[in-house]
Amino acid sequence: MEKIVILTGAGISAESGLGTFRDEGGLWAQHAIEDVATPEGFARNPQLVHGFYNARRAQAADATPNPAHDALARLEAEHKGEVLLITQNVDGLHEKAGSRHVLHMHGELAGALCQACGDRWEAPLVMSPDDPCPSCGTAATRPDVVWFGEFPYHPDKTEEALAEADLFAAIGTSGQVYPAAAFGQMAREMGAHTVELNLEPSAASQDFHECRLGKASLIVPTWVDEILSMSSGG
Ligand code: APR
Repeated sequence: MEKIVILTGAGISAESGLGTFRDEGGLWAQHAIEDVATPEGFARNPQLVHGFYNARRAQAADATPNPAHDALARLEAEHKGEVLLITQNVDGLHEKAGSRHVLHMHGELAGALCQACGDRWEAPLVMSPDDPCPSCGTAATRPDVVWFGEFPYHPDKTEEALAEADLFAAIGTSGQVYPAAAFGQMAREMGAHTVELNLEPSAASQDFHECRLGKASLIVPTWVDEILSMSSGG
């Protein structure tokens, strides 16, 4: 049975009211990456960085999944083969929609990480540089998100999934951040049919057999319906 692997990016959550990074007026137009999304920025000003992620955590907590997240959860529930989501998003909306097989390659706003001992726990809604680690007591806690200059999580599982995929789709991602930007090419070289679903062509569009343009809330449910009707022989 067909194995489906799907990469998602900020564009899938745009219609849930969460800002993307690189669209006009996006997060990286409002904040300097080197200040809020690097280990060096955190070392310089942990208060500022916690403030940035506290605001995003509050927004994500209030956000609800849109029809694109819902459609992917339906795909996982109804497709007879395996469906794996690899998400760059830290907002938790895939799980809220009901998806269960999700790899968070850039971590999660819902997670806290101790820089001193590596312990992980559920992040409170508001984090501060003074929060002690529940395990070692050190006040060196950070959001459990992957910053620029750090290695994304789950590289082995990701590589294995891309190698085994029969169908690979990238949804709502600009194709500008590696390694995710290379997943289309990797999956295609290893035999998958590749599809891009995005508002506009991404920087990686050439790696896809098919590109579907439009709002995720419209084009993802249609695409999911097509896959489910093909796999049920309908
Ligand atoms: N439906 C579909 N696609 C959309 C929508 C929408 N409603 N709105 C925007 N998009 C598309 C944009 O056209 C763009 O190509 O989503 C993409 C969002 O791109 P980015 O803002 O660059 O987000 P992403 O690709 O997820 O960024 C990757 O960069 O800074 C880091 O860690 C951060 O995980 C993030 C990574």
